[in-house]
Amino acid sequence: MAQLWGGRFTKETDQLVYAFNASIDFDQKLLHEDIAGSIAHVTMLAKQGIVTEAERDSIIAGLKSIEKDVEAGELAITSQYEDIHSFVEANLIERIGDAGKKLHTGRSRNDQVALDMRMYVRSHVKQTDILLKELLQVLYEKMEENLDTYMPGFTHLQKAQPVTLAHHFGAYFEMFKRDRSRLHDIYEHMNYCPLGAGALAGTTYPLDREYTAKLLDFYGPTLNSMDSVSDRDYVIEYLSALSTIMMHLSRFCEEIILWNSDEYRFVEMDDAYSTGSSIMPQKKNPDIAELIRGKTGRVYGALMGLLTTMKGIPLAYNKDMQEDKEQTFDAIETVESCLTLFTGMVSTMKFRKDVMAKSAMNGFTNATDAADYLVGKGVPFRDAHSIVGRLVLYCIDRNTSIDALSLDELRSISDKFGDDIYDAISLKTCVEKRLTIGAPGSGAMKQVLDIYKAYLNREEQLWK
Ligand code: ARG
Repeated sequence: MAQLWGGRFTKETDQLVYAFNASIDFDQKLLHEDIAGSIAHVTMLAKQGIVTEAERDSIIAGLKSIEKDVEAGELAITSQYEDIHSFVEANLIERIGDAGKKLHTGRSRNDQVALDMRMYVRSHVKQTDILLKELLQVLYEKMEENLDTYMPGFTHLQKAQPVTLAHHFGAYFEMFKRDRSRLHDIYEHMNYCPLGAGALAGTTYPLDREYTAKLLDFYGPTLNSMDSVSDRDYVIEYLSALSTIMMHLSRFCEEIILWNSDEYRFVEMDDAYSTGSSIMPQKKNPDIAELIRGKTGRVYGALMGLLTTMKGIPLAYNKDMQEDKEQTFDAIETVESCLTLFTGMVSTMKFRKDVMAKSAMNGFTNATDAADYLVGKGVPFRDAHSIVGRLVLYCIDRNTSIDALSLDELRSISDKFGDDIYDAISLKTCVEKRLTIGAPGSGAMKQVLDIYKAYLNREEQLWK
């Protein structure tokens, strides 16, 4: 057991207590952030004359050699150390001797871990954004290809009005675009450096916190040292954004699973993204979509877990906060792998355009347009609604559709129907006449696609 705090203790820590308390098994993920934070800290200490330049150089070289050796597999991170901070410091002292003992001057593990976690989350906020952008790119391409791929739009999972595949995908484009903007907001909230907050009350050393913040690409230092060591809001915000991403992915997966079923047959999953059954030879299962839908639960779990962990903690740092890590790491890994797989799955999926169009023609998806037609002939909308309602009943009795009725049959229900009704309620007209911005008509969709193209090509960095 190598720990940083033996001085005032007279007894060895109980083995079970030691293992229960330790976090090295999971916080070793923070190695790079811990080393980068330490390099910035000691650079600032030297600038302030708190350590010498020679000490700084030796510490930095020692830290870099530790990082290099871990990466090369030559130095193992073992449970002999309590946490990643102890591991780095103990190895540093072993390598460079007494100078290593000066690294922790003016610092506590409380602000150290607050910094490491912030830097780790910050880099994954960016990574999540990159993955979302890749997904949006694929959705954009699918939309461009499917401006006139007609399909039924549903409400209550009942066929409602026809839309296009481009329009349906566009709904998800909007969701994932909002997800990106949420990440951007989180970045703006969190990008302040807690280093220098010490244990809770700053330090008596003349630290230059602005300088350290700048070295680590933060906008500036945090402004309250107690808040700095006990703030995990940004993790909660990030987990909330990740949960929303999973909710969107899960809804999309649910639709793909339905569309892939024998009842719908709208899509065919690529073999690479499907699996078979051990007993039923005919099966090609959408396991990846199901798994993404299923994994949504564990990401929500992480959000609920951390909210609950944080709710009763008095200021400032308490060990409860160590519990922020495992569930956050798991949620990040889950979302990153789900996004990557989902993007691959959608980009390789085939759409059965004929089946979709046929499905859009059944189920009276043109009933609203038939009513609108009557409105065009001077019938008040409420009356038109009731006339078409009777028409639908008539069709259900005869197992047919409105557009398959003869003009005589139509006129037996309302003499306002004329020859032009067939064109007015054709699938194409039903979609293409919907041209208000945000509607499925290809004229309107093209305008939206232009906006999306400009959005995807925007060079300016989301992150300053
Ligand atoms: N492993 C700890 C954590 O993750 C590091 C901070 C320890 N600080 C302390 N005062 N014991 O929160």
